[in-house]
Amino acid sequence: MELDQLKPETATPRQVRQYLRDKLVVIASNRGPVEFRRVENGIIKPFRGAGGLVSAMSTALTATDAVWISVARTREDVITALAYPKRRIPMPLENPQYFLRFLVTDKREFHLYYNVVSNSVLWYLNHYMLDLTGNPCFDDEFHTAWKEGYRKVNRLFADEIVKEVRAQGKKPLIFLQDYHLYLCASHIRSRLPEALIHHFTHSPWVEPDYLKFLPTGYRREILEGMLSCDVVGFHTRQYAENFLRCCEESDVLHLKVDSKRGMVVRDGRLTFVRHYPISIDHEALEKLAMRPEVELHRKRLRKIAGERKILLRVDRVEPTKNILRGLKAYRLFLRHHPEWHEKVIFFHFLYPSRQELHEYRNLRREIEEEVHSINREFGTLEWDPVYLEIEDNYLRSIAGLMEFDVLVVNPVMDGMNLVAKEGAVLNRKNGIIIISTRAGVWGELKGAAIPVNPLDVMELAEAMRTALRMGERRKKALSRKARQVVESNTSFNWFLQQMRALQRAEKERGKGTVPEEPPVPPLPRYEHFD
Ligand code: F6P
Repeated sequence: MELDQLKPETATPRQVRQYLRDKLVVIASNRGPVEFRRVENGIIKPFRGAGGLVSAMSTALTATDAVWISVARTREDVITALAYPKRRIPMPLENPQYFLRFLVTDKREFHLYYNVVSNSVLWYLNHYMLDLTGNPCFDDEFHTAWKEGYRKVNRLFADEIVKEVRAQGKKPLIFLQDYHLYLCASHIRSRLPEALIHHFTHSPWVEPDYLKFLPTGYRREILEGMLSCDVVGFHTRQYAENFLRCCEESDVLHLKVDSKRGMVVRDGRLTFVRHYPISIDHEALEKLAMRPEVELHRKRLRKIAGERKILLRVDRVEPTKNILRGLKAYRLFLRHHPEWHEKVIFFHFLYPSRQELHEYRNLRREIEEEVHSINREFGTLEWDPVYLEIEDNYLRSIAGLMEFDVLVVNPVMDGMNLVAKEGAVLNRKNGIIIISTRAGVWGELKGAAIPVNPLDVMELAEAMRTALRMGERRKKALSRKARQVVESNTSFNWFLQQMRALQRAEKERGKGTVPEEPPVPPLPRYEHFD
């Protein structure tokens, strides 16, 4: 079957299943869809993984029988896996659509790969948030982390993927996720030359000059890894263009780049560079919103808010999300507009995140202090202007997204931001979304939300006031538009587009097509590394 014949709007999971009947879909990501933990009574329960990748991928895999490989994070992950044949855990447990396999890593290796390289360097690099005055410092500790952690875990992922593909003997479609796995494709390609490999980056991708802050050799490894794929995907055109430019201006590899057609050639192999914004499954979300637990959270929230207007933030405790500037803006809003005192409440429904890193622990403390300070400055016996909850609780967030009058999404930089999309479809009050123009989602929700510069707290304070004072007709028009935009692109479409791109890449591979002439002159060879 040709995937091109399927229209994203009308294609069904059944048709995709038919297409996949002789193929094996393998997803690989650092964090899996769930994490198993022991709760009261000693029972082991699954808890949903945090972040946009999990939101989109879990529902995109409907009826695929895919195998999703991710790192075991708890002892209970390992114990659960051992209870299933071939350690493949059916997911979701109550209505299996795909299988989860855990990769077990050494504790030290995982720390070096996840905390030292991925989250302390690559994450900030991708968000233009390196602290150039002092952090990072590529010292021997970092080089050890790269060699003994990042490289090693990427290789382990590749081993596990190759093992799975060989065991099943079907044609593999491999989907690697995010900055944790930039090197994985190189190791797979050398052992499975025919495999179709797709990599998707869930964060922004920076411009060539910024990428150059990474040590030259590691930059080369990353590009080599990415270009071992048949297709690399990004959320937005801008990130895809940045990637193409990084290839075009590469001082470490000889590359032919066709920017117009989104193609890069390395050693005669072609890689397509594509952009398709990740999304959500609004139907699945609506079903979740019907759960009785969500209703209980809504009641609790309404009781706390009373008649007051509700501002809301739903985020991981994460520096890129810009939570402190959001609070500063709210303080300014309350200072400059005393007429709103007692009439608003700002819910912060946050998730603990990456607590092994001191920046994240400090941020959590600073948020708590800022919240107390605002509540001390403006609060009364009946009113706390900010309500803060830091807890892993998705159903509570859904309740909040149904109830907000104003949703604040002001990241300094964000690959996409699925909270804005979830808010657009779940909200029941024609609520208004304030969005940072540096979030990928702004490209889609432009004209359906209020834009803000993430650094400009005065502008955000004014945006809060504008949203709160907006008339019903305008609110209705904006929120309807936002909902329509989100509903027109589901996470299933997002996944279908990736499969199509792979199919196209396979055809080109068959023809041996490579762009004839490089549009840029060959670059000088870099001779100082290795
Ligand atoms: O969306 C970007 C991302 O890094 C995902 O890869 C990840 O699942 C999510 O954020 C949460 O981060 P972490 O897995 O480090 O908690």
